[in-house]
Amino acid sequence: MSDAIYLKQMELGPMQNFVYLVGDPVARQCVVVDPAWEIETIVQTAAADDMTIVAALVTHTHQDHVGGHLFGMDIPGVEDLLEKVKTKVYVHKAEREFLKGYGSDLVKVDGNDTLRVGRLELTFLHTPGHTPGSQCFLVDGRLISGDTLFIGSCGRTDLPGSDPTEMYYSLTQRLAKLPDETVLFPGHNYGGLSSTIGNEKRGNPFMRFAALGDFLRVMGGGRIVLP
Ligand SMILES: [Fe+2]
Repeated sequence: MSDAIYLKQMELGPMQNFVYLVGDPVARQCVVVDPAWEIETIVQTAAADDMTIVAALVTHTHQDHVGGHLFGMDIPGVEDLLEKVKTKVYVHKAEREFLKGYGSDLVKVDGNDTLRVGRLELTFLHTPGHTPGSQCFLVDGRLISGDTLFIGSCGRTDLPGSDPTEMYYSLTQRLAKLPDETVLFPGHNYGGLSSTIGNEKRGNPFMRFAALGDFLRVMGGGRIVLP
C-alpha cells in the first residue's frame, strides 16, 4: 500500500453514513462513493482539494446511500449529484433496476470488474448479503465496504432482498481472503473511522463463525424451509 492515494472520508447525515472521495492526487481525479445527504458539501470538498469527480460508485441502492425517500426523509443523492457533475454512475448489475432512470449515465458492473482512476486501478468485489448487488471497492490496499462489513459488525440481513447465507460467504470467504493489512473503510460510522481486515477477522464476531448454520441462527433467519 502506497501513500499515493487521495482518500477523504466524510460522515454525512443523521444515519452516520460515510461518503468517500477516492482518487489519484497526481492526476487530480477521484470517484465519489455513495453520494448522498449533502451533495453540495461533497462537490465543494472535491473542488477545494482541486480534485475532479470522474465517476460515482454505488455500494448498494438503499436510500441512505443513493438518495430517495426513507423514514419520512427526502434524502438528496445521485440524482442531485448529476445535476452538478456530469459523470457515470457505477452500480452492480443485480441492482440496476433501482437506478434505471439514469439511462446512459448508468454503468452496470460485476465482481472483478475494474475501473482506472488516474494511475490507480479500482476493483469491484461483489459481496451480496445485505442486498443482492452489494459491492465493495478495493483500491491500493484499501477496502470501501458499504453495508457489508462494519467495524465490529456487519450489515443487516433481515431486509427485503437480504440473504444471510450470502452474507456469511461474503464475510467469511470473499472478504476474509483479502490480506490482513487491507485497510477497511465502512459505509457507516458504527464502530469508528477505519480498521483492517486482520483486526476484523480477529475481533469481529460476524467474521468468526466457522459454520453457516451458526451464523444463520444468530442472524435470525436464513433459508428455513417449513415442511
Ligand atoms: Fe444499506
